[in-house]
Amino acid sequence: MDRRARPRETIGLGGLTPEVFLRDYWQQQPLLIRQAWPGFQPPLSPEELAGLALEPDIESRLIRQTDTGWSLRHGPFETAHFQRLPKSCWTLLVQDVEKWLPSLQTILDRFDFLPRWRRDDLMVSYAAPGGSVGAHVDRYDVFLLQGQGQRRWQIDRRPNAPLEEDPDAPLRLLRDFHPSDDWLLEPGDMLYLPPGIPHLGVAETACMTFSIGFRAATLDALLVEATQLLQDDGEHTALFADIGRGASPHPALLDESSLSRARGWLREALTDSLLDRAFGRVVTQTKPGFDLCGPDTTIDRTTLSDALDSVVTIRRHPALRVALRPAPSGGGVCFLDGDEWPLDENGYAFMEQLTSGGDLTPQALSALLRNEAHWTLMLELLQAGYWEIDDDDG
Ligand code: SIN
Ligand code: CO
Repeated sequence: MDRRARPRETIGLGGLTPEVFLRDYWQQQPLLIRQAWPGFQPPLSPEELAGLALEPDIESRLIRQTDTGWSLRHGPFETAHFQRLPKSCWTLLVQDVEKWLPSLQTILDRFDFLPRWRRDDLMVSYAAPGGSVGAHVDRYDVFLLQGQGQRRWQIDRRPNAPLEEDPDAPLRLLRDFHPSDDWLLEPGDMLYLPPGIPHLGVAETACMTFSIGFRAATLDALLVEATQLLQDDGEHTALFADIGRGASPHPALLDESSLSRARGWLREALTDSLLDRAFGRVVTQTKPGFDLCGPDTTIDRTTLSDALDSVVTIRRHPALRVALRPAPSGGGVCFLDGDEWPLDENGYAFMEQLTSGGDLTPQALSALLRNEAHWTLMLELLQAGYWEIDDDDG
């Protein structure tokens, strides 16, 4: 079946359209959405989640609360570790689950009203009754989708909520937490939290929570990237100029005219085009730990033709971030893995189609490959490891 042909569903937003949600809630205020995903069935079991936490490359944490306080342990774990756990008051959390189990990307695709380059990851947690990670704040937007069991979420949405953290705790915990809201979430319910809202989720029964997290570029990263681009362009070799300056009234004075020349000069160097490039590069940088590298073998026309005749899936690397920036004159730039690929109109149209959906069947990809330039581009993307031919899917 051509999976691209499947209707794309959006997560329920409690009767709000994505536009209204984005206007009134996104990055501004929490929203509890009952039955955001009616009938949601966790696509992996607690045992499978624990299996991921045995893997050395997969980021996982086990948080426990005992009479003597909190404990945090990072994975990888051993099976015996899980067997020794008590019946209550612990949580296992696994990051980037959609990158290790790419079929779970379809959960994130329900949030496609937000650009994919804004996504961070799907974190899945399993908690025994009473399990929690304590009251804390996150720096990013998150949608907390209840997968299995019941979790009590409490938040403090008051504008002056205390944010001081306990410096002695082994994990990031708020010193004081006074909830303003208290809800019991059932499977399919979802809580949206913007950054900076104190929250506490306690498992009422054994439960699984799917956290769809979004990332935001830091100013620091943007400035570093802009500086790097200036250096690459050789602009850093230009020198401060003060032609026509006045005589200095004091040998040490940093005069206003020099400062304003310097400010203007720096602002001029940071052109819109440079800043746009820096932004595109930063937001598509691959998350550390997920280095993309192409296959050792050469992917040539024959490899791709053979794949198109077989039962395979053509998949964007689950850790790849892509962003497209059209140029006013036609064509544009595709940012991939923090890099820029300038494209003419033909190439741009191809990338627009290729990046609009999820996995591709050979038939769907064949339909996109309309000319020689598309083939060349696709071969380059496969060789770079940005797209992959997966013959393990059937
Ligand atoms: C959890 O799934 O237990 C924690 C999610 C969060 O509070 O960010
Ligand atoms: Co949190």
